[in-house]
Amino acid sequence: MEEIKTKAHEMAAKQRDIGIAEFFARNRHLLGFDNKRKSLMTTIKEAVDNSLDACEEADILPEISVDIIDMGNDRFRVTVEDNGPGIVKKQIPKIFAKLLYGSKFFKLSQTRGQQGIGISAAVMYAQLTTGKPSKITSKIHPDQPAHYYELHIDTQKNKPDIIKDDTVEWKKDHGTKIILELEGSYLGGSQSIDEYLKQTAIVNPHVTITYTNPKAEQFIFARATDDHPKKPVEIKPHPYGVELGVLQKMLKFTECRTLQSFLTQEFSRVGSGTAKQICEHAALLPNTKPKNMTREMVEKLAEGIKKTKIISPPTDCISPIGSELLEKGLRKEINAEFYAAATRPPSVYRGNPFVVEAGVAYGGEQGADSAVRLMRYANRVPLLYQQGACAVTKSALQTTWRNYGLSQSRGALPVGPATIVISIASVWVPFTSESKEAIAHYPEIIKEIKLALQEVGRKLMSYVGKKKRILAESKKRDYIQVYIPHVADALKEILGIKDEEKVKSILVELLESQRGKLDKIGVDNPEYDEDLAKFGKENETSDKEDQGNS
Ligand SMILES: Nc1ncnc2c1ncn2[C@@H]1O[C@H](COP(=O)(O)OP(=O)(O)OP(=O)(O)O)[C@@H](O)[C@H]1O
Ligand SMILES: [Mg+2]
Repeated sequence: MEEIKTKAHEMAAKQRDIGIAEFFARNRHLLGFDNKRKSLMTTIKEAVDNSLDACEEADILPEISVDIIDMGNDRFRVTVEDNGPGIVKKQIPKIFAKLLYGSKFFKLSQTRGQQGIGISAAVMYAQLTTGKPSKITSKIHPDQPAHYYELHIDTQKNKPDIIKDDTVEWKKDHGTKIILELEGSYLGGSQSIDEYLKQTAIVNPHVTITYTNPKAEQFIFARATDDHPKKPVEIKPHPYGVELGVLQKMLKFTECRTLQSFLTQEFSRVGSGTAKQICEHAALLPNTKPKNMTREMVEKLAEGIKKTKIISPPTDCISPIGSELLEKGLRKEINAEFYAAATRPPSVYRGNPFVVEAGVAYGGEQGADSAVRLMRYANRVPLLYQQGACAVTKSALQTTWRNYGLSQSRGALPVGPATIVISIASVWVPFTSESKEAIAHYPEIIKEIKLALQEVGRKLMSYVGKKKRILAESKKRDYIQVYIPHVADALKEILGIKDEEKVKSILVELLESQRGKLDKIGVDNPEYDEDLAKFGKENETSDKEDQGNS
């Protein structure tokens, strides 16, 4: 029988697989390559983030150099070099010229990268805009030569296309260097490379970055500490964070022979007692074979997990900056009068542990009449784009900054001479897109950010309050001083003292007796702080009145 050609057949002829690289080449904005300016910044960010991750994993204090050369016609040559552990020869082509290839995606521990797409996306963008291959040099041991590659990505097949493969001498014990030529645009401002590197230096005080910008100006962000950040430990998933589909997949691929051992071995915080309880709550036998479990049984297991009380996941998988170092970083890079920072205790979203930290730098050379500068970080990486879409911004907007000495209009960021920093560290940061620019609005995360902001807010209030109080006191003192001669004159008669100067000096002494007791800003005095809290509130009302009158 002759086959009838339908519209469906016509459509079928056009239906085929879509390669990952082809997809992302077309949707490169998803990876942070939406315009020339951002593309240059993203390229550097991906390379620097990788260098930092690699150094930290290898216990090496990072020394990174970033070089940008303006080649004219909106083309730039970017070189990023690190003193990291280097990359094994066989891995180099795949790491740099295959999208979705990496070591961090399957690992539950805190790293800057997580998706396995960052650096290959930069290589692909360079290739798309200039047609030039990326040049990679890497060395893993002082006694071994370095390997040099020139690579293209075969976008149809998403695999490396090796243009050159060589062995070279490199005067370095170990490390990796990547050279990319791409279309870009170099501009200053809040979303610039300069800003990204500066903000990176703030929360990574153990890093030295040498940066040469396209104007051939060199900047050195020197390390402020030789202490390595605490190395995060890899953890297994927590049962509360595993969705039904994932549970199904885990059961299918596990090597464990019983449900009981599957639960204790594949998850964190499940001992044999907890595993038994889960089985009981799920009405499943602990010796059930994982591979034989039907969809209905998996669903029962998921229910059983929900009904069982399981302690929160361990938190040594995350390495927060620490309030002391965060404050040190702020002092190093921002010229202000007052600095404070706070680290919240660990919390959990979807089974993933996370820690929020906040910092503030107040006063100094910062503009008093504009909105505060909000710095957002995820796993020590500055987030410069999509501020409006980020959970950090939402939490900052919902905080009542008037309580902490900054003025604020409804639904806006506070106004004042301050920089506010929020940093979140997690084994998996829930970004709103692959370009890792904004944090998704998980209620647990928003709540923690607010609590961290309140904590530094209170410290800020204590300083701003003291400052305002001293100012108010000095104004009052000046005012009273004007009346001292008149009061002395009147008192002289009432008290029957002839010497008016003596009365004056008694009054001045009285007025001056408390001076200096309030001058010591920053000295903690609980009684005094209570006063200040009251003062802050009074002041807030007077602010409102002021506004009402004007
Ligand atoms: N400079 C480097 N030194 C050592 N290893 C590196 C370096 N750069 C990349 N790698 C390795 O290459 C892998 C792929 O890097 P890539 O940036 O593509 O992905 P990622 O960092 O894992 O995740 P993300 O896409 O979120 O950046 C990394 O996981 C790491 O193992
Ligand atoms: Mg990366």
